[in-house]
Amino acid sequence: MSAKVAVVTGSNKGIGLAIVRALCKQFQGDVYLTARDVGRGQAAVESLASEGLKAIFHQLDINNLNSITTAAAFFKEKYGGVDILIHNAGIAFKVADTTPLAVQAELTLETNFFAARDVLTHFLPLIKRGGRVVNISSFVGPRTLNKCSPELQQRFRSEDITEDELVALMQRFVEKAKKGEHKQDGWPETPYGVSKLGLTTLSMILARRLSKERPNDGILLNACCPGWVRTDMAGEAAEKSPDEGAVTPVYLALLPPKITKPHGKFVSDKEVQPW
Ligand SMILES: NC(=O)c1ccc[n+]([C@@H]2O[C@H](COP(=O)([O-])OP(=O)(O)OC[C@H]3O[C@@H](n4cnc5c(N)ncnc54)[C@H](OP(=O)(O)O)[C@@H]3O)[C@@H](O)[C@H]2O)c1
Repeated sequence: MSAKVAVVTGSNKGIGLAIVRALCKQFQGDVYLTARDVGRGQAAVESLASEGLKAIFHQLDINNLNSITTAAAFFKEKYGGVDILIHNAGIAFKVADTTPLAVQAELTLETNFFAARDVLTHFLPLIKRGGRVVNISSFVGPRTLNKCSPELQQRFRSEDITEDELVALMQRFVEKAKKGEHKQDGWPETPYGVSKLGLTTLSMILARRLSKERPNDGILLNACCPGWVRTDMAGEAAEKSPDEGAVTPVYLALLPPKITKPHGKFVSDKEVQPW
């Protein structure tokens, strides 16, 4: 039987690297540190080696479909699938950044929602029985949801929203932001928040699909918030260390066999949060 395998996207630094560190210590199997840049990824693997930890590098740029399909094919060939997928890669413009909102909306949604969806589209069929999928979202997701128009809130919370409808809503936000019409259309002024609202909703949709299409496979898929974590993204003032930020994602990734919950939830500090 092939070895068990865990894959973490965007893990050359920050929370992703801390997740890999924790999995190296706690997961009985091979742990893959993936990064879009080979040099940064290999340097991160070496930094873990200097701590006595063995992670394995594989290139994965989530904005490049060829990179996603190449990585997916590699894990299918070498391991027959994937046991744990933690999708962590993400971007955020700094608050002080003066890039026009239209550009921020397009680039943020491109990586945090559309590329995340590409990763899930190509990796979900590979998830083995008993597998765990964790999407790193954010507490700004529910906060953004609560600031949307009642019509949008109803759709994002509904149990019957489809992936196609969600994709169309995310495209609608980008189009409206480009025309400066997003507020009239019911959206708050936060591309990052909308991207994480989208990723969390997508997680719920995919979890429902897994329950329907693979009811006996025991796969659990959740979105979570790592907390406010001291990384290049959030800065030095944030409250948690990267290792502390890794706690909830790793808890969800290592939920023991036979457990049926949480599944399709948004989790923070190891607790299911209201949506
Ligand atoms: N820090 C917080 O307080 C906080 C709070 C809530 C949620 N989050 C979420 O947690 C996740 C990790 O954030 P972080 O704080 O650790 O940020 P970070 O230090 O900026 O790290 C982000 C990671 O994502 C990678 N990445 C970005 N675009 C990528 C792409 N196209 N392909 C592959 N990797 C890509 C980066 O790689 P490069 O080095 O190549 O850029 C980096 O490894 C993000 O999804 C973020 O939204 C963070």
